[in-house]
Amino acid sequence: MKIFIDSADLDEINQAYGWGVADGITTNPSLLKKAVDKRIASGNKLDLETYIKDILKTAKNTPVSLEVTEITAGRMIEQGKKIFDMFNPVANNVNIKIPVNPAFKNEDETHFDGIEAVRKLSAEGIPVNCTLVFTPEQALLAAKAGAKYISPFAGRVDDYLRKSCGMKFDKSDYYPAAGTEKSGKVIEDNGIVSGIDLVSQCVEIIEQYGFESEIIAASLRNPRQSREAALAGAHIATLPLQVIKDMLKHHKTYEGMKAFTADIVKEYVELK
Ligand code: G3P
Repeated sequence: MKIFIDSADLDEINQAYGWGVADGITTNPSLLKKAVDKRIASGNKLDLETYIKDILKTAKNTPVSLEVTEITAGRMIEQGKKIFDMFNPVANNVNIKIPVNPAFKNEDETHFDGIEAVRKLSAEGIPVNCTLVFTPEQALLAAKAGAKYISPFAGRVDDYLRKSCGMKFDKSDYYPAAGTEKSGKVIEDNGIVSGIDLVSQCVEIIEQYGFESEIIAASLRNPRQSREAALAGAHIATLPLQVIKDMLKHHKTYEGMKAFTADIVKEYVELK
């Protein structure tokens, strides 16, 4: 499984690439706002074009998702092309992130602009990351429309399931891949019992029909969920830096190091 860093913060991105664990980057408007706010709060001047170009150079030879902010097909296509033309020449690694469906209401039948934009940009050779995917059928349609990447949002599915049954939780709490039961029934959203279940069903469909799209398990918030994304066969997991850090931790590792450092003989250290 490839690991992308889910961040627009250049310090975090440099850290993950410095460790050699990042195979790409995903950003979204919220992550970009967080990075911009941090930069400005620290008193640094921000030239956004140069900042994004620095991100692309850091990610050289690995893909970077930049998201559109428009919500109609025509404007998403126009903005997607503009972003691609402006930034792809820097390191030839830009893909355009398009929401599968930019509707603000589930029932709003007039908002099917996302899939149209996925189709048009993909057909013009611009790689697309189809985002905000919450069902395997959205993933199937995104694959058919030509999306290179498809991003099911695992953590937000878990949030929804937990909220729907009145559970109290922190965003980073682990939620079982097999779901949970309440009053003898597994909590589900139309046959999806957890975020990892969504990822797994998306992977199964993509593999079963030999689509070239890759599934990016997104909105992952803890190490066990990342492990389960790998076990579910996700092609990619996009992770915040904190989750990558947490994946490196184990109390027995610290305990082992404490014992080893207590046993160091000076003759060993002084070997010439
Ligand atoms: O990759 C999607 C991600 O940025 C959303 O994460 O934790 O806000 O659901 P989260």
